[in-house]
Amino acid sequence: MKLRNAMPAVSALNLFEPVAADRSDLGGKAKVRVAVLVSGNGTNLQSIIDHSEAGKLDVAIVCVISNRSDAYALERAEKHRIPAYHVNHRSFPDRESFDAAVLDIVKKHETELIVLAGFNRIISQVMLDAFPLAILNIHPALLPAFPGNHAQREALLHGVKIAGCTVHFVDSGTDTGPIIAQAAVPVFDADTEETLSRRILIEEHRIYPGVIQLFAEGRIRVEGRKVLIIHGTECSDDFLENPRF
Ligand code: GRF
Repeated sequence: MKLRNAMPAVSALNLFEPVAADRSDLGGKAKVRVAVLVSGNGTNLQSIIDHSEAGKLDVAIVCVISNRSDAYALERAEKHRIPAYHVNHRSFPDRESFDAAVLDIVKKHETELIVLAGFNRIISQVMLDAFPLAILNIHPALLPAFPGNHAQREALLHGVKIAGCTVHFVDSGTDTGPIIAQAAVPVFDADTEETLSRRILIEEHRIYPGVIQLFAEGRIRVEGRKVLIIHGTECSDDFLENPRF
């Protein structure tokens, strides 16, 4: 494990614009301490950082941890003076011991919420037990369709007309946890995996900070598989259609 940057650092909702009234309730309370786990480019991390620095999130990003040393997300963290760590999963005999090493760092930073942002490892029971209903993930599909890797490619191959993204609590399955929020985008005939991914990412960057803020405001209630947003604004009852008629 390697500390990339020991500099202290801190660091966004309809659902997805800040709710002024509820924020005032926070008064002088401490911000929710968030650890972000990444493996790649980190555009979702960047969006969370940007919303946070713009004062739209009542959270402090206390550390960023990657299982890959070459993850550009680590550089993003360093640029914003957020402690960034590489924990090589290949150095551990199993998922549990890797997760335990990640947990050591997370706990050292007194983390309250773990946010998976393009983190390509399955979370073991060790981490789930340590953070019950406090690990979020974002997935580039309208779950429960297309869980796992290559969701956008599979959506295209399947010929769906509407795709999107989902923020959900992490459980022991692959992208199976209770769904907190989803956003939809149209799929066009000319789409490639890249163009569709880009369209979905725009929504990811909007709803992920939104859900994190809901968590920070204590407005997410889980009843079985169903997630209720306290004082949430639901979208209008207009339906989505593609093509348009
Ligand atoms: C996103 O599409 C996210 O939904 C998926 O991995 C991708 C990460 O992108 N889990 P980035 O690293 O945040 O740019």
